Amino acid sequence: MTKASAPGKIILFGEHAVVYGRPAIAVPVSQVYAEATINPHTDARVIIDAVDVARRYDLGSAPSDDPLATMIRLTCARFDATPSHFSVRIHSTIPIASGLGSGAAVSVSIARALSRYLGAELPPDEISALAYQVEKLHHGTPSGVDNSVIAFERPVYFVRDRKIESFRIAQPFLLAIADTGIAAPTRIAVGDVRRGWEKDRARFESLFDKMGVIADKARKAIETGQVERLRHLMNANHILLREIGVSSPDIERLILAATTAGAHGAKLSGAGRGGNIIALVNEVTQDKVERALLKAGAKRVIISRVETKF
Ligand code: PMV
Repeated sequence: MTKASAPGKIILFGEHAVVYGRPAIAVPVSQVYAEATINPHTDARVIIDAVDVARRYDLGSAPSDDPLATMIRLTCARFDATPSHFSVRIHSTIPIASGLGSGAAVSVSIARALSRYLGAELPPDEISALAYQVEKLHHGTPSGVDNSVIAFERPVYFVRDRKIESFRIAQPFLLAIADTGIAAPTRIAVGDVRRGWEKDRARFESLFDKMGVIADKARKAIETGQVERLRHLMNANHILLREIGVSSPDIERLILAATTAGAHGAKLSGAGRGGNIIALVNEVTQDKVERALLKAGAKRVIISRVETKF
């Protein structure tokens, strides 16, 4: 039996704009994870066992756009191996389509476990590149931020088609990550933003520019330990995300609840329309903000400490 896991992730700044070449900042979230287990068996078939959704199927009969099957095929091809005589069991605690990177985490956990099973675990850049192929199945123009932050398990400053950069978190800070409970596929929000951009490129490009400037300022603030600066940057980034049309009444309700309860800035995170919001809290405000979020309808609140672990 060979097992491997991968964490969730959260985008702090720059979602959507990152698809259009602006920078984004994202960090791993270790409180949630995906886990893949490879078990050899005598049967020649490869069985995929997605336990959380109670789906058990044969790799041979999986459609060509099945993300789990694609990841298995790609990893085996990397080792010139024909997939046979094993099962892949997938379990994940990451809510699906909520901005926590569940798809990329599942892909990364499969690539890690299977490459280990086939003889040598691949380095993060190769794992990330394989997972990116699968991200393309989820939506046509992924920036690659999810697979990067999850495969490297470090805070990343990410610009599409550039070598990924990690950065130091000078002063750890706390985030309340609150789930609206609405699963919102990235593909739909990204597609709608694309249509908006096609209709009015000048306006969208200018909004993306502003998001890019915010992401750069946020990186600087985080690297220099000026966490108090994030309040304004988060709020400003959220207003811009609202303007490109990816907020929703549920998101707005949670953001209002968090800020009213004393959060020092809040924004949606990821594709939007549902999924998670993030709110900056500290040891004093975290309980009150968590209670307010749950009262306002959040399905789950994770308090995550953002820090450099290496
Ligand atoms: O998968 P999510 O919800 O974290 O959203 C991905 C972030 C986007 O910028 C909206 C899309 C992308 O490919 O970067």
